[in-house]
Amino acid sequence: MEINGAEIEISKAGNKDNKSIVFIHGFPFDLTMWNNVIDSLKTDFYCVSYNIRGFGKSSGGDGQFTMEMFVDDLEEIIKKLKLNKPIICGLSMGGYITLRAIERFEKILGGLILCDTKAEPDSNEAKLKRAEGIKNINLKGAKNFAEEFIKNCFSEDFIKKNQNFYDNIVSNSAKTNPLALKGCLLAMAGRTDTTEYLSKIDIPTLILCGEKDNLSLPTLMKEMSREIKNAEFYIVPNAAHVIAVENPSFTTQKIRTFLNKLN
Ligand code: MLT
Repeated sequence: MEINGAEIEISKAGNKDNKSIVFIHGFPFDLTMWNNVIDSLKTDFYCVSYNIRGFGKSSGGDGQFTMEMFVDDLEEIIKKLKLNKPIICGLSMGGYITLRAIERFEKILGGLILCDTKAEPDSNEAKLKRAEGIKNINLKGAKNFAEEFIKNCFSEDFIKKNQNFYDNIVSNSAKTNPLALKGCLLAMAGRTDTTEYLSKIDIPTLILCGEKDNLSLPTLMKEMSREIKNAEFYIVPNAAHVIAVENPSFTTQKIRTFLNKLN
């Protein structure tokens, strides 16, 4: 679908008349990270997932991305698909997009699911890590970057038990256009602070965090959940940063229960 001048790959599953939920993937992954969750939820909900610019079959253009552009794309997808008060579910970078979206257009959204993410902007240390990542992509290529970055996203236990599956995730990510990888790193480094809006959020919110997540710490996500009125918070066992892949059954069960409570 053409969205704001880009060709965006969108996947739709389930009956359009059911409550809709839009899934936004994390970095440097793609929409397939939601496959298990969507396979289970599509019987009762209309599940939309899409690839951010430059990922999967979505066009990346010149790779000059900003977080605002990603939020513009989400808004346009909601409008073009005529989704009525969709629930937005974002993981990590998908969560950054979701948190900025709620600040910009809460009125058109029906609920929030924030997975392994944060409202704070990048610290100086995090910005320097992004710069190092870009340097690595330039000097050693996307494969090396994907290998180094993704190993911090999954628990050692998961990697050991699912080596082939894990290797596929890494090699799939390594195929991403380096321009898109670098564009996302810059967009994340330049994102705004959304912490102030947390206390103003007025729609049902579910917060999930992998118990072994080293990138978005469970303690910090719990604090974030306290800022949001009536937010539900759960720690996902046996998972690090990518809960939708590492523990899809627990993740799905919490999402399903949350969705069932909404009108
Ligand atoms: C993600 O999973 O989207 C990334 O870890 C987010 C980040 O690098 O800040």
